Amino acid sequence: MREPVREPVISFQNVSKSYAFYKQISGIKNFAFNLHRSLASIRNAQYEALRDISFDVYKGENFGIIGHNGAGKSTALGLIAGVLEPTRGRVVVRGRISPLLALGAGFHQELTGRENIILNGVLMGLTRREIMTKVDEIIDFAELGEFIDSPIRVYSRGMLARLGFAVVASLDPEILLIDEILGVGDIRFQKKCQEKMLNFKESGVTLLLVTHSIASIAKLCDRVLWIEDHVVKMIGDPYEIAEQYCKAAGVEVDLGTPTQGTLSTTSL
Ligand SMILES: Nc1ncnc2c1ncn2[C@@H]1O[C@H](COP(=O)(O)OP(=O)(O)OP(=O)(O)O)[C@@H](O)[C@H]1O
Ligand SMILES: [Mg+2]
Repeated sequence: MREPVREPVISFQNVSKSYAFYKQISGIKNFAFNLHRSLASIRNAQYEALRDISFDVYKGENFGIIGHNGAGKSTALGLIAGVLEPTRGRVVVRGRISPLLALGAGFHQELTGRENIILNGVLMGLTRREIMTKVDEIIDFAELGEFIDSPIRVYSRGMLARLGFAVVASLDPEILLIDEILGVGDIRFQKKCQEKMLNFKESGVTLLLVTHSIASIAKLCDRVLWIEDHVVKMIGDPYEIAEQYCKAAGVEVDLGTPTQGTLSTTSL
């Protein structure tokens, strides 16, 4: 019997992404003298954050993305979330996306945690009753105590991460994008998030996780993409890639044992 063909829920097909690059102007006199040429060079300068990237992610996978600062990881998640457009190539996404791309994104600074949750519910088109059920669930998960009724501008980074994760986790996601947010939560909250991610996995949610916590990537993910200098360096087994990545960086990290689905505080 032939195996059923697995359809990817995310597909990067030879994707490149360039940003406008702001070059430093060397000498205002020189700049003014060659004004036409200087302006053209500023306008045309491009920085390639991702170059010819291809990979597929399948339904229900926990897929990690690692790489040094500036490698292009957040750019990849931004392309999946649809907040960025590829310069070349195609990004195909099949499923409802719940992104947690930046701390406090999608929240209003002057509103309280509770009001922000309600606002998110309204924006998602939930009914009043659905919102009220979700609010309690989210507040329980976020464990912010009395701060839930303070404006979020007074929240610490960890508190914002708690609220952000609690909100996206409650959205009944099909594809969950998490960008380097868990690192700012305390270890108890990180563990709780990891457990939630593993529960999601059981219910078929696809997770894309960007983090510099290599041990969590190795523990939580089925496959890992390593982006180096804006191109795909390796893609495959999390332990193997995490090991190679640490070796290349000249850093020793305890990756634990290669058994997915088990959590311990040492894995954080
Ligand atoms: N809006 C932008 N305009 C210009 N350049 C940008 C922009 N956003 C990102 N870049 C550049 O693109 C490259 C990739 O950035 P990206 O944020 O994707 O990296 P990253 O892998 O997420 O890094 P980090 O680990 O530090 O979060 C970087 O060199 C960055 O300076
Ligand atoms: Mg980033």
